[in-house]
Amino acid sequence: MLNKIGCMLSLLVGLWVFPVSGDTLTEVYRGPQQNWPAPFIDEGAQYSPLASLPVQPPYPSENPYSDEKRELGKHLFFDRRLSKSQQIACASCHDPDLGWADGRRKSIGHNRQVHTLNTPSVVNTAYLTSVFWDGRVNTLEQQVVQSWSNPIEMAASLPAATTRISQLHDYSPLFEKAFGTAQVTTSRITNAITTYVRSLTLTNTKFDRFLRGERALFSEPEIRGLHLFRTKARCINCHNGAQLSDGQFHHLGTSFQAVGNFEGRYSVTGKATDVGAFRTPNLRGLSHTAPYMHNGLINNLDNLLALYNAGWWQNAPLHDTNNTIPLATLSALIQPLNLSKTEMHDLRAFLETLNGTMPFTTPPPELN
Ligand code: HEC
Ligand code: HEC
Repeated sequence: MLNKIGCMLSLLVGLWVFPVSGDTLTEVYRGPQQNWPAPFIDEGAQYSPLASLPVQPPYPSENPYSDEKRELGKHLFFDRRLSKSQQIACASCHDPDLGWADGRRKSIGHNRQVHTLNTPSVVNTAYLTSVFWDGRVNTLEQQVVQSWSNPIEMAASLPAATTRISQLHDYSPLFEKAFGTAQVTTSRITNAITTYVRSLTLTNTKFDRFLRGERALFSEPEIRGLHLFRTKARCINCHNGAQLSDGQFHHLGTSFQAVGNFEGRYSVTGKATDVGAFRTPNLRGLSHTAPYMHNGLINNLDNLLALYNAGWWQNAPLHDTNNTIPLATLSALIQPLNLSKTEMHDLRAFLETLNGTMPFTTPPPELN
């Protein structure tokens, strides 16, 4: 009798969580998005519905697109002579062979210094409104200036690097075509590089095509995974909208007090709730961007999903940190998920739909 009641109860709970049965779930997701089951969104989450990424990336009116600027930017992106040592190009860390990241836990920069952070892919950074793991700048133009002069990245003095480029005669016609005159300036270099970077996009994923209406593309496990992503697995609380990112900053337990870059967003805002909070990453092309997280802590997707399933952890305070920075607090949007093995498998199947053909190029010939 008790068993029977138990069964009925779990059936009722089951019906409440999954208002539609297996087959109809597929049918519902193959239909219009407004008829999909409501997502599980907590109070405080910044939600926007999942969407495909616009195929044309936005270019700012101050730095509009042109083929000529892109071509110049490509040469500069691969040119090691922009760096202080003349050994490190943007492409040294954002390598087209490695999904425009570097495959390392943490990047290695000027004088073989180990960075405190994992190199993100530059693909789809055109769509960002807050750039870097801690969102300290809002435009790629500001980002290039920082990466180029960062002592543990390219360590360049911008005037010296600009002069060096201006002395390479092969560049003159490229600057002339891109900007009207052959004059080489730091802002012209920056504008050309960002035009190139903005053109590196991944918008043809199975996920994008599914959202644009090719609803037959998803297999049943992928649809179940999408449903989990939006509901029981709670990913949608932070990974939402066209970028699969709320553009907000959260702490997941990935960083540890006084170890490496543990401040995160706190270094920008000084708010206790921002300690250890990093920007929610865009998830497209994720098979190319391991190791994951701001510090490359997690080396594969299964380990990452296992940690989400366990609800991460709240780090205990240390006694002897010698700093006054508050202890990072685990995001209230993170909870243990109790996903079964099959559910984990389905969720992973859905995440794989975010992969696609990454843009690719071979390095252009060096200019003299
Ligand atoms: C030494 C390796 C290295 C070099 C060289 C380098 N980067 Fe990066 N790049 C990184 C790391 C590490 C980060 C993350 C830094 C942070 O968040 O503070 C990053 C962040 C970025 C971002 C922001 C990505 C995001 O999701 O917020 C862009 C865009 C970018 N780099 C482009 C460039 C360009 C363009 C150049 C050349 C001017 C360049 N990088 C040179 C390692 C490098
Ligand atoms: C509380 C907001 C939040 C929720 C909920 C959340 N994420 Fe994340 N996710 C983040 C943040 C923030 C990071 C980066 C953390 C860091 O670098 O320390 C991240 C990182 C990731 C990464 C690594 C991306 C990379 O390039 O390094 C993947 C993959 C990922 N999340 C998938 C998921 C999945 C799948 C779910 C649901 C099971 C989920 N996330 C739920 C905020 C969230």
